[in-house]
Amino acid sequence: MINPKDRIFFLILCQIILVQNAVFYLFNMEAKKVKDSLVTMTELVLPNDTNLFDNLMGGRLMYWMDIAAALSATKHCGASVVTASVDNLSFQNPIHIGNVVTIHAKVTRAFNTSMEIYLQVWGENPIEQRKYRSNEAFSTFVALNSEGKPQQVPPAMAETEEEKKLYEEALHRRQIRLILDGKLKGKDASEDLKSFFLNS
Ligand SMILES: CC(C)(COP(=O)(O)OP(=O)(O)OC[C@H]1O[C@@H](n2cnc3c(N)ncnc32)[C@H](O)[C@@H]1OP(=O)(O)O)[C@@H](O)C(=O)NCCC(=O)NCCS
Repeated sequence: MINPKDRIFFLILCQIILVQNAVFYLFNMEAKKVKDSLVTMTELVLPNDTNLFDNLMGGRLMYWMDIAAALSATKHCGASVVTASVDNLSFQNPIHIGNVVTIHAKVTRAFNTSMEIYLQVWGENPIEQRKYRSNEAFSTFVALNSEGKPQQVPPAMAETEEEKKLYEEALHRRQIRLILDGKLKGKDASEDLKSFFLNS
């Protein structure tokens, strides 16, 4: 029979170990290189993927983009992820039936539990071997633990000039999307953004 004093001591010890582990986990999360999150997806546009003009349907492309981005986020954080938001998406050039779609997805920056993903989409006529840009977009993914709650993700390490630029700008994009979603007040945004959201 354990006496009450020992039981209390044991419970306190367990709690100290739990807190120690949580602190160790948070402060020792190693940064991951942006290039290690790169995902390239290739698809062929078939009749079932097209609209009445024999071009790729926007919805089908968004579906593929969402999968490529989710894989990239998962590669970065090693956890299950969900789409939190997708920024503005405009289709610059249609992708014709029989052409190849290539989607590049990579993490630009990781915050606490969320990661911003940059997507670039290319179309290619495989017969003429002509490649053209279709569109680009940013989306945000949140890592979830086994209970479906947001969990910490590793920081992203930008190395090239392009990666560093995307990393720096990610902070602004994050603030804008949180303001638009009503989760951040304009007055709490960074100085250069405040002027756009004076009354919010
Ligand atoms: C995304 C989701 C997990 C956020 O949960 P939440 O309860 O709002 O959690 P929090 O407020 O703690 O935010 C968690 C993270 O999400 C980010 N987030 C929340 N809303 C966001 C948005 N609209 N855009 C970008 N990031 C967003 C927060 O900034 C935070 O990131 P951080 O920890 O890096 O700072 C939750 O809203 C959800 O599960 N949504 C449904 C996801 C889904 O089903 N996706 C598929 C849709 S078809």
